[in-house]
Amino acid sequence: MTKIIQNFDALSVLNEAAQTLALGGLVAFPTETVYGLGANALDNEAVSRIFVAKGRPQDNPLIVHVSNFDMLNSVVSEVPEEAKRLIDAFWPGPLTIILKKSERVSEKVTAGLDTVAVRMPAHPMALYLIEQAGVPVAAPSANLSGSPSTTRVEHVIHDLSGRVDYIIDGGPCAVGLESTVLDVTGKEPQILRPGGVSPEEIEKVLGKVSFDPALKDATKTPKSPGMKYRHYAPKAELYLVTGNMKEKIENEMSSLHNEGKKVGIFCMKNYGIEADSVLFGGEDMNEYAKNLFHSLRTLDEAADVIFAELPAETGGIMPALINRMMKAAGGHVL
Ligand code: TXA
Ligand code: MG
Repeated sequence: MTKIIQNFDALSVLNEAAQTLALGGLVAFPTETVYGLGANALDNEAVSRIFVAKGRPQDNPLIVHVSNFDMLNSVVSEVPEEAKRLIDAFWPGPLTIILKKSERVSEKVTAGLDTVAVRMPAHPMALYLIEQAGVPVAAPSANLSGSPSTTRVEHVIHDLSGRVDYIIDGGPCAVGLESTVLDVTGKEPQILRPGGVSPEEIEKVLGKVSFDPALKDATKTPKSPGMKYRHYAPKAELYLVTGNMKEKIENEMSSLHNEGKKVGIFCMKNYGIEADSVLFGGEDMNEYAKNLFHSLRTLDEAADVIFAELPAETGGIMPALINRMMKAAGGHVL
């Protein structure tokens, strides 16, 4: 049985979840990016349960979440100067830093790598839970493997109810896309996955940052094992649309309707397109990104084919947004 913890529940219920987490159970919890599915990062068996609950490939390592610096120091062998500056600037927040691991981290967490991904999340309930558990918490996004990440508790319940011990409701996630994964163990800092902290913000702190070439070139092997898998995909067919939304979508719609297919649309604003279901994400790119996964999941309930507007903006959240949308759509752009 999965116990759902609501905002208004007494703190003692959250403490109960923290204790379960420390003792090897699974707890889904809110973060500022997406919901996470947590287990004690020092406990091999507990971490194995994450992979079973999600149906996640074993070779995809997990991010370790910490609530204080003693915890950080317990899971890494050193914190280089560059990482210290990043931590100062962005923690707690949506930046995951790849560092050399310590002996204590379960090898299930790192999938056999000699590095570990670490971050301090900015959601107060996440920080409280980890602090009370008193152990670093390994947590992938709280969704079934391959599906869109969960940014609202109803989606976590949909995917994981009956598979985990507790689900904590912390409301909608503020960022709505995952953290930036940044590797500082190589010659120069490299973004392995774009996310909630933008490349410009990282550049301000480090002077310079590059991208893993595999992000742009599908023939290269990504340094982040998770980046090679199909991800974030709704069950419906998903097509990204650039340029004139109304014209392009209406061109497709009549034949889809003739085939008896229901059509859903996710776009920034009202273009006057009539479909079976239309959701507006907002014209502000942070707002649009925040609504992406929630909208894909909602439209998936109502439509067989989804068209999603791919904004033409650049900077800020855009590299992360484009990355998630392209993966979710398997690269299909109209
Ligand atoms: O915002 C987030 O990062 C969320 C919340 C819950 O914190 N978590 C999340 O975890 O997105 P997950 O498991 O869905 O994605 C973790 C990514 C994967 O692409 C994985 O391959 C990569 O981080 N990763 C983990 N450890 C790594 C390591 N040692 N080296 C390179 N990549 C690593
Ligand atoms: Mg994920």
